[in-house]
Amino acid sequence: MDTVLVTGGAGFIGSNFIHFLISSSSYNVINLDALTYAGNIKNLSSVEKDSRYRFIKGDITSPEAIRQLVDLDFDYLVNFAAETHVDRSILAPDRFILTNILGTQNLLNLSLQKQIRKYIQISTDEVYGSLGREGFFSENSPLDPTSPYSASKASADLIVLAYFKTFDLPVNITRCSNNYGPYQFPEKLIPLMINNAVKNKPLPVYGDGSNIRDWIHVDDHCRGILQVMEKGRSGDIYNMGGNSEKQNLELVKTILEILGKPESLIRFVTDRKAHDWRYAVDYSKIRQELRWAPQVKFTDGIRDTIAWYLNNQDWLEEIVSGEYQHYYEKMYSTR
Ligand code: NAD
Ligand code: DAU
Repeated sequence: MDTVLVTGGAGFIGSNFIHFLISSSSYNVINLDALTYAGNIKNLSSVEKDSRYRFIKGDITSPEAIRQLVDLDFDYLVNFAAETHVDRSILAPDRFILTNILGTQNLLNLSLQKQIRKYIQISTDEVYGSLGREGFFSENSPLDPTSPYSASKASADLIVLAYFKTFDLPVNITRCSNNYGPYQFPEKLIPLMINNAVKNKPLPVYGDGSNIRDWIHVDDHCRGILQVMEKGRSGDIYNMGGNSEKQNLELVKTILEILGKPESLIRFVTDRKAHDWRYAVDYSKIRQELRWAPQVKFTDGIRDTIAWYLNNQDWLEEIVSGEYQHYYEKMYSTR
């Protein structure tokens, strides 16, 4: 059976993708992850003894890690490894450039050398910049990234496409909207708000809370990635969205309502620098070509997600009491 090399598989979406591959396909999986602050090996504890799964600790920016991969057999490479938090990219952009751009190029060179069947770059709708009240991002929308994070992802996308055009490397790029679900690091909006609300701590809403994100359950995203890997047209980009636009304030109020907590916990804090106002994704291409559409209704998905964090307080607590605590204090003490 074919083997999928997953890079960044100990993070939020990568670990969900590995669970999905092990439970719903017959692929073997190799997971290479540097275990940065965002990578958590415990996300994979239920698959670690599976004979189809293997973990390797390694950094995609390191030549030794890449050399280790040269000696392995794999048919597909799906790259989730990245620095992913916009606020951190504003505080300290350097690591974003290294991992997201140079790390990606290392994986492309590896893929060429190994002559694999397909390289999949997990990109983001943030490469398109920000929308006003009208319109949607299509695959043909111009790249107009705002933050060091989104600029590094857009740069990586261009390099991926250059390897397809110049060297005939079979590639796909997926650009998805905001994911939610289990195992998301609690610096991101939904798990951060759940964690704070449970502890009756203030919920920091940037600006006036009017910014809009298009939320998609991580299970829908993972299903789409596998379809693109198996059936996507080489060299093509596929957008994915959840068809579920919410203003941040509305979403935060929904979380409070489900948890039975008061809206008085909400604190309006200084806005994020260059804060993109609205993301919304036109996913008609993948719907028509690969018959993919999101299936999880937001009202169900958010309830299940909140229940997951409530049932996994130990997982959450271990993270928020560690290194993250220092970052949290630095981020929010000045607001
Ligand atoms: P995450 O921050 O939860 O996980 C990132 C993972 O990459 C971690 O396990 C980390 O240890 C690993 N990693 C980081 N640097 C590495 C390096 N140099 N070498 C090896 N591993 C490294 O991120 P996520 O939210 O799961 O996002 C995964 C991918 O999906 C990213 O490429 C991101 O840009 C993209 N994406 C995320 C979303 C979202 O809403 N979270 C939406 C669209 C696209
Ligand atoms: O759109 C896809 C992108 O979604 C991914 O590429 C990124 O990796 C992922 O982090 C996410 O980016 P966002 O910046 O949209 O996600 P975040 O959870 O950081 O913020 C969501 C919205 O909530 C955004 O408008 C900022 C706001 N926000 C966020 C935090 C952490 C707050 O108001 N308060 C907060 O404390």
